[in-house]
Amino acid sequence: MYSEEDIEEVRSRSDIVDVISTYVQLKRKGSNYFGLCPFHSEKSPSFSVSPGKQMYFCFGCHKGGNVITFLMDYGQYSFPEAVEMLADKCGYKLPKQQMTQEQKERQTKRTKLSYIYKDAANYYYSALYSGNGAPGRDYFQGDRGLDKDTMRKFALGYADGNWSSLYNHLRSKGYEDDIMKDAGLVVFDEKKGPRDYFINRVMFPIVDERGKPVGLGGRVLDDSKPKYLNSRENDLFIKRRTFYGYHIARSTRREMFILCEGYMDVIALHKAGFDNAIAALGTAFTSEHAAKLKKVGKKVYICFDSDLPGIDATLRAIGMLRLLEVDCKVITMGEYKDPDEFIKAKGSEAFEERIKNAENSFIFAIDMRRRDYDNNDPEENNRFFRNMAGRIATLPTDIERENYIVVLSQRYGVSADSLRELVRDVSKNDKELKAIKEEMYHGRDNVIGEDSDMSDKSDTFGGSPRDARPTSRSSTKAKGDEGLKETEGIILTWLLEEPSLYNSIAKYLSPLDFHEGLYRDIATDMLDAYSTSGTFDPASIMCKFEDNEAHQTIANMLYTKIEGVKSDKERETLLKETLIKLKNEGLSNIDQSAPGAGGRIRQIRQDIIKLQTEPILI
Ligand code: UTP
Ligand code: MN
Repeated sequence: MYSEEDIEEVRSRSDIVDVISTYVQLKRKGSNYFGLCPFHSEKSPSFSVSPGKQMYFCFGCHKGGNVITFLMDYGQYSFPEAVEMLADKCGYKLPKQQMTQEQKERQTKRTKLSYIYKDAANYYYSALYSGNGAPGRDYFQGDRGLDKDTMRKFALGYADGNWSSLYNHLRSKGYEDDIMKDAGLVVFDEKKGPRDYFINRVMFPIVDERGKPVGLGGRVLDDSKPKYLNSRENDLFIKRRTFYGYHIARSTRREMFILCEGYMDVIALHKAGFDNAIAALGTAFTSEHAAKLKKVGKKVYICFDSDLPGIDATLRAIGMLRLLEVDCKVITMGEYKDPDEFIKAKGSEAFEERIKNAENSFIFAIDMRRRDYDNNDPEENNRFFRNMAGRIATLPTDIERENYIVVLSQRYGVSADSLRELVRDVSKNDKELKAIKEEMYHGRDNVIGEDSDMSDKSDTFGGSPRDARPTSRSSTKAKGDEGLKETEGIILTWLLEEPSLYNSIAKYLSPLDFHEGLYRDIATDMLDAYSTSGTFDPASIMCKFEDNEAHQTIANMLYTKIEGVKSDKERETLLKETLIKLKNEGLSNIDQSAPGAGGRIRQIRQDIIKLQTEPILI
C-alpha cells in the first residue's frame, strides 16, 4: 500500500475532468460538467463532474467519488492499480512497493503462472491450426458451427492426443516441473512420469477482466466423461469469482449482462451479436460472482439451461442477486436446452425477442415454487400461498408489496384482500418468515423441517400479538434518519461551496452536531481544515475510506441540493433555519445519561438562542 502522502500527491496532480472525459463525453454547464452516467443507463445526463470539488456524482443513481474511485468503479481497477495508472499519467514517480517476503513470493508465483498460461494458451491456439489440429477444427467449425473470427476472438485451441506435447513445449521454454504442476497443466505420475492434463480436447482459455489468461478449460470431442476439465485453482485462478466472457461483456454498450451456464453458450451468444453474455465457470454461481456484478451496476438476465438443475441454479442465482439488490430477470427458452441450442434453432432475432420478454425474477421464483406443491391438496395449497405471502412480506416498501399482491392474486386466482391478509399474517411469524427468506436467498437445500415450522406457526397463532408491520416501521425510522442527514449534507455542501462562510458560522458549529460515523468524520476534517488552512479538498477525504459505500455516502453528502437563494436576507434566513434544525436534531439525539451530556445540552441551547437572535452573516 502506498503512503497517504503519495496517494494524495497523485490524486491532486490528476484532473478529474481530464480523466473522466476519456471515458464519458462531458459538456460544461455552469461550473460543472455533465454527461450520461456510465453506471446506469439513462437518456438525459445526470452525471456531474465538478472540477472545483474534484469529484463526480450522479443525481440519478447516486454513485459518486473522486478520480481514484472512478477508475476503480468504472475501470474495475484495484485501489493500488488506479493510483499507479494515475501516477503514470501525470508523471509522478511512486516508490517501489514495500512487500513482505511472503507477498513477494506470491507475486512472483502469480507472475510465473500468468506467463505459463499465456504460453500454454498460445501453444494450444497454434496447435488448432497446425497439421495435427484437424479434429479440433472439424469440431469447432463442423459440429459447433463456429466461424474463424469467433474462434480467434476467444483464442480457442486444441490439445492433441499425445501424452506430453505441452510438457515438452513448456520444457523447451524453460519452465520447471513445479510450476507446470501448480498451474494444473501437467500431472506428474510416479510411475508414468509427466503427462499433459489436457489430451484430445478442444481448449478454452479463461482470461481475467483485462484479457490475461488465468486458466484453461478443455472439452472432449465426443460423449466421453468428464465433458469439461478446468485447470486447477491457485493464486491466479479463483473460480468462485471468475466469469467466462467477462473481459468483452463488461465494456459492451448493452444495459444488462446475459448470465448463462457454459463456455459454448457464451461463445454462441457472442457470435450472434450478444457480446454481453458471460458464464460462471462450472454450474456454480456464487455470492462472490453476484458481488462482482453488483459492482458494475448493470442488470443481469439469467439464461441458464432449461433442465431441472438449470432451474434450481436459476433460483439460487435470483436469491443471491436480489439479496444484493441487483436488478435481475429470467430468459426462458421453452423446449430448447440452452442458449446455444436456441440460437442455432431460432436465430438471433428470436433471442432478442426473448430478452425483451424476459420474466420478472420474483414472479419466476414463485411460479417455479408452485411445482413443489400438489395443486389438488388444499393443505398444500395453503402452504404454497403462505410461502408466496412470506416472499411478498420481504419486499422493502408498501408500494412494492401492494404491486405484487395485485399481480400475484390475479395470476393465482385469489382475491387481493385475502392475499394481503395472509401477508400480514405471515409477517407476524418471525420463524416462518425467516425460513422463507433462507429459502429465497440461499436455496431450498437449506430449508429444513418445513413441517415443524408450520406447527410452530399454529402455536403462535393465538398467542401474544407481535408487531404487525416490522418492515414498514423500520423504514420510517430510516427515512427520519435520512432527513437528518440531509440537513447535515446541506451545511457541509454549503460550506464547501462558500468557504468564506466558515468565519461566520464556525462559532455555532461543532463536529458533535453531526451523526456519529462518516458524517462526523467528514465534518471534523472539514472544520479542521478550514480553521488551519482556510481551504478544504473534499476529494482527498475519499482515500481515507476503503469501501465503496463510504465513497457514495460522502459524494451524496457533499452534493446535497441547496435551494436557489436570491437575496442576502434570504440566504441568512435559510442558513439560520438550517443551522437551528441541525442543532435541534442534535439535541434530540443526545443520550441524557452520557457523561458530559448536561454541558453539551446547555451549549446547544445557547447556540440556538444566538442563532435566533444574532445576525450571522458578517
Ligand atoms: P453443460 O453440461 O451444460 O455443458 O455444462 P454445455 O455448455 O452445454 O456444453 P456443450 O454445449 O455440450 O459443449 C455447463 C458448464 O458447466 C461446466 C462447464 O463450464 C460447462 O460449460 N462443466 C460442465 C464442467 O466444468 N465440467 C463438466 O464436466 C461439465
Ligand atoms: Mn449446457
